[in-house]
Amino acid sequence: MENFEKLKEDIKSLLSSVSSLKELQKVKVKYLGNKGIIKDLLKRIKEIPPQERREYGKRVNELKEFAEKLIKEKENQLKNLELKEKLKKEWVDLTVPPVRTVGSLHPITVTLDRIVTIFKSMGFEVEEGPEVEREDYNFDMLNIPKEHPARDMQDTFYVNKEGYLLRTHTSPVQIRTMLKKKPPIQMIAPGKVYRRDDDPTHSPMFHQVEGLVVNEYVNLRHMKYVIEEFLKHFFETDLPVRFRTSYFPFTEPSAEVDIGCVICNQKGCRVCKNTGWLEVMGCGMVHPKVLENCGIDTDFYQGFAFGVGVERLAMLLFGIDNIKLFYENDLRFIKQFF
Ligand code: DAH
Repeated sequence: MENFEKLKEDIKSLLSSVSSLKELQKVKVKYLGNKGIIKDLLKRIKEIPPQERREYGKRVNELKEFAEKLIKEKENQLKNLELKEKLKKEWVDLTVPPVRTVGSLHPITVTLDRIVTIFKSMGFEVEEGPEVEREDYNFDMLNIPKEHPARDMQDTFYVNKEGYLLRTHTSPVQIRTMLKKKPPIQMIAPGKVYRRDDDPTHSPMFHQVEGLVVNEYVNLRHMKYVIEEFLKHFFETDLPVRFRTSYFPFTEPSAEVDIGCVICNQKGCRVCKNTGWLEVMGCGMVHPKVLENCGIDTDFYQGFAFGVGVERLAMLLFGIDNIKLFYENDLRFIKQFF
């Protein structure tokens, strides 16, 4: 009989050394399990002399209740402890000031906005066209004949649909606008363009802003004025601008526009290849064939057009020497701009 007191002491001391729910489970099985000590004691009741069985049974039940109570207490205690620890681990200091992750505009976005704002102030409207463009709008209608090198597979990304491509310039938006609206037209078209080019100064995707003015009596002096005004506002200085005759299938006459090198102030440097001049855009009087293709009466109307490379202007404005920096999304680079 004194065995029961000893068993109680055992349980007590065993439980005092338990420090996890897992360990506790083992103790539970050992005493209260199907093959546990208490079940075993109950089975042995047959071996007890009949007159002592009643007392024996009572003692075993008492032991069982004792064990259950102690184990339950221990379980509560351990669960509480676990909860406390969890809360401690997950505690968040709400008084710590937040890390400020304020976004910034991409330098190309900043440059595009700047270009658009200047032209809008001169009365230009903004037009848009799709990046997957009709081949005839991108080439034929712009008087780019079938055998023109720009049509070569080298330069153009064709898409799976017959007659469509990734636009190689924003000039097809000229066509779309003239087909849609009657003169007077005074529009710009900013957007992405695609070419099979990839080196430190060329990216397969880049941005252009196209410009088109169609009206009666529109002439080269208007074109020259608009472009010079734009460049002066863009670079915020009265820089030298020159028009160099050139060739584009969709303009006649055509010109390329150079500005005095903003890097070296025309003293000669690596960027301007020691010429003191930087080419920044193409322009010209819209070829009569292009106007006619869009149903515009060339007896009454003339137009001028221009196309600017946005990356080129951004590189000059911010002094960036590698076009790839725009597309690597390195936050250390991108965050420097507004
Ligand atoms: N589309 C030409 C290009 O991508 C740029 C250009 C030149 C556009 C002269 C024009 C223009 O509208 O008149 O290289």
